[in-house]
Parts: sequence; C-alpha cells; structure tokens
Amino acid sequence: MLERPAEMFKREREWAALAEFATDNRPGALLGIVYGRHRQGKTYLLRSLCQATGGFYFPADEAADRESLNQLGARLAEHVDAPAPLAFDSWHQAVDALLSLGRERRIPVVIDEFPYLVRANPQIPSIIQNALAPLRAERDQSRSSILLCGSAMSFMGRLLSGNAPLRGRAGLELVVPTLDHQLAAQFWDIEDHATALMANAVVGGTPAYRREFARDDTPAGPEDFDAWVVRAVLSPTSPLFREARYLLADEPDLRDAGLYHSVLAAIASGNAHRGGIASYLGRKAGDLAHPLTVLEDCGLVTREADAFRDNRTTFRIAEPLVAFYHAVMRPIWSDLEHTRDTARLWQRSRRRFVSNVLGRISSTSAATGPGTWPSPRCSATTRTG
Ligand SMILES: Nc1ncnc2c1ncn2[C@@H]1O[C@H](COP(=O)(O)OP(=O)(O)OP(=O)(O)O)[C@@H](O)[C@H]1O
Ligand SMILES: [Mg+2]
Repeated sequence: MLERPAEMFKREREWAALAEFATDNRPGALLGIVYGRHRQGKTYLLRSLCQATGGFYFPADEAADRESLNQLGARLAEHVDAPAPLAFDSWHQAVDALLSLGRERRIPVVIDEFPYLVRANPQIPSIIQNALAPLRAERDQSRSSILLCGSAMSFMGRLLSGNAPLRGRAGLELVVPTLDHQLAAQFWDIEDHATALMANAVVGGTPAYRREFARDDTPAGPEDFDAWVVRAVLSPTSPLFREARYLLADEPDLRDAGLYHSVLAAIASGNAHRGGIASYLGRKAGDLAHPLTVLEDCGLVTREADAFRDNRTTFRIAEPLVAFYHAVMRPIWSDLEHTRDTARLWQRSRRRFVSNVLGRISSTSAATGPGTWPSPRCSATTRTG
C-alpha cells in the first residue's frame, strides 16, 4: 500500500481508495471518477497520488477543444521526455496515448477539471467509453488507471448515471466530502469547543478556506472570535469575503442566479419547508421542485425527512459559508463593501448570526450529543434571538 504523505490531513479513506486503484495488479486499463464540491482537496489528493507513483497529471483548463488537445500533447511529451509536444488530431488518439502510458506498469493517469473538456467537446465521454471497450487490445494491454476529476457535482454525478456512456466502465467512484465539524476543528487547530463550533458555522470544513483563503489565520480563542470574523471573512480584502457568491457563480447548472440566491436566502432566514420558502419568494410550492433539486444536486442544499412530521421535508443549506453569507452578509452587502468600521457592522449582525446560523445548527446537531454546543454565553443569547 502506498504511504499517505505525512503532511496530508486525514483523508485516510480517500487515500486508501485511490492508492488501491492506482496499484491494482490486475491487467487492463481502469477508469475512475473523483468528484466533490470546490476546494475540498481533490487536486491535492490526486497530485499527491501522482507524485507518489510517478503518475501523469493533466489539469484541463477552460479552453477551446483544439487548445486542450495541444495542452495535453505538451504535458504528455514532458512526462515521457519527448523532445517535442505530441500532436493529436483527435481525442481518439489522445485517449490511446493515455492508455499507452500504462503499457509497462500500472500508473495513475489523472485528468483534472474534466468538465472543462466536455463543455468544449461533448463527445469525449463516448470516446473514452469506446477506448475502454471490453476486448479492445489497447485497453487490455494497458495498465493505466484513468481518473477523471471535477467539481461540477451534478455534471460529474451524471457521468455514471442512467444511460450515460461511461456507466458500467468505471471501477471507482470517489466523492471527496467536506470535513465534518470535528475534523474541521482539528484542521483549524481550534481547541475550545465553543470557538470551534462558531468558526465551523462561518467557514465550514473546506480545507482551502483555512490554507489559501484565510492564510492560516484562525481564531486564537473565544475572545478572538469576533475579531477573526471581521478580519478573515467580513473584510472586503479577504478572499473569503466573495467566496459564497463565487461558489454559486461557479456552478454551471445554476442559470437563474437570482432565483437560487433567493431560495438560499429563504432557507437561511429560517424557512426550512417548501411552503415557507415558496411564500418568501412569492411563488407556488410546486414551482420550487426544480430549483431545490438543482441546489441539492450541486451539494448546496440537503433535504431531510422531518423527524416530527410524516411526509414533510426539511431543507438545510449544506455549506456553512453560504448559510453565513445569506444570513449575515447578504442583507448588508453594500455596507460591508463600503464601511470603514466592519467591527461595528458585525456587532449589529451578531444577533442574526446567533439566531439564524448558530440556532439552526443547535437544532440540527442535537442528536450528535453533548460537547457540540458552544458555551452558555451563546446558547443563552440564542434562546432570546
Ligand atoms: N487533506 C489535506 N491536508 C492538508 N491540506 C489540504 C488537504 N486537502 C486540501 N488541502 C488544502 O486545500 C487546498 C485546496 O485543495 P484543492 O485545490 O485540492 O481542492 P479541489 O477540491 O481540487 O478544489 P477545486 O474543485 O476548486 O479544484 C489545498 O491547496 C491544500 O492547501
Ligand atoms: Mg481542483
């Protein structure tokens, strides 16, 4: 078994699945799909895998089809030490070149940001399907473990569903989830339970938010929490400031952005059921089936059966940063962008944070037991909020 890099936080399950897939000693090319919401560490895992095994990693870019083929040819040439970029006339040739990488030994072959390629050329999944057809010599003689990765959740999920071309071809489907609140507390290095829970209610368990986004600025303790929210999230110069908006903008399936923002705002302001969301938007409950399903497919909303009432569904925002944005930031967006006194705006918004964000977590995490709810200072305010 491949050793997990020492600096990699957790992800034992994901690493084990990838390592097994990348070292499978049976003959024949393999296909796997890796997906998960943005910035959870997919690229980090796959690059680490390629580093550990001498695998091939290709990060696709938003580009025209021809340019992507050229970029792949250039990367492949680099990988095999060819003197000049490989020239491909078509994806058929390119996929066979990826298969030939595994002619001598098992090797992972990663195509990251796969949805970019398919957006420019929708034929690519069928081309891969045909290249991996059973009894095809190029497939049987290859030991490439091809991994297609992307963060457009609904698109990646659909790759293997129904009568999609790649259904039946893939031997691995790995979803890289957000860190849960206990892992997130460890990752953020926050020992105080209450502070960890409150920080989690703001930035959730997305690894990149601590590293690249907050540049490792974590709340030092309960007394630093307010100042941390102001400097790390609410300050217009912090990368986290606009992140919730970008998350929505990045989802190709969310075409009518205004509608989706309003549905999320309805949920964030306390409407957990279809009827409440509908009346917040001034629409009929039936009109919400599609947007709620799309938000769910993107991993932004979860639906749960209501514990107390049959046939009733409760909707929750799955990404804390999005819930925080809608409950706290969006109502005062322009003020946040222009104020010189963010700390004062935060003090005035704190009540919304406690009632609409923390209050909601306390009711949904009641089942997770003691030790998850912050100190009396917060819970007391919640009850009045
Ligand atoms: N297991 C981990 N241990 C340590 N750091 C991690 C881990 N996972 C992710 N990170 C940090 O999070 C950052 C973002 O991860 P990465 O770019 O791999 O996410 P991604 O899922 O590929 O995002 P996108 O969908 O936007 O491409 C990494 O650069 C790294 O700093
Ligand atoms: Mg990535």
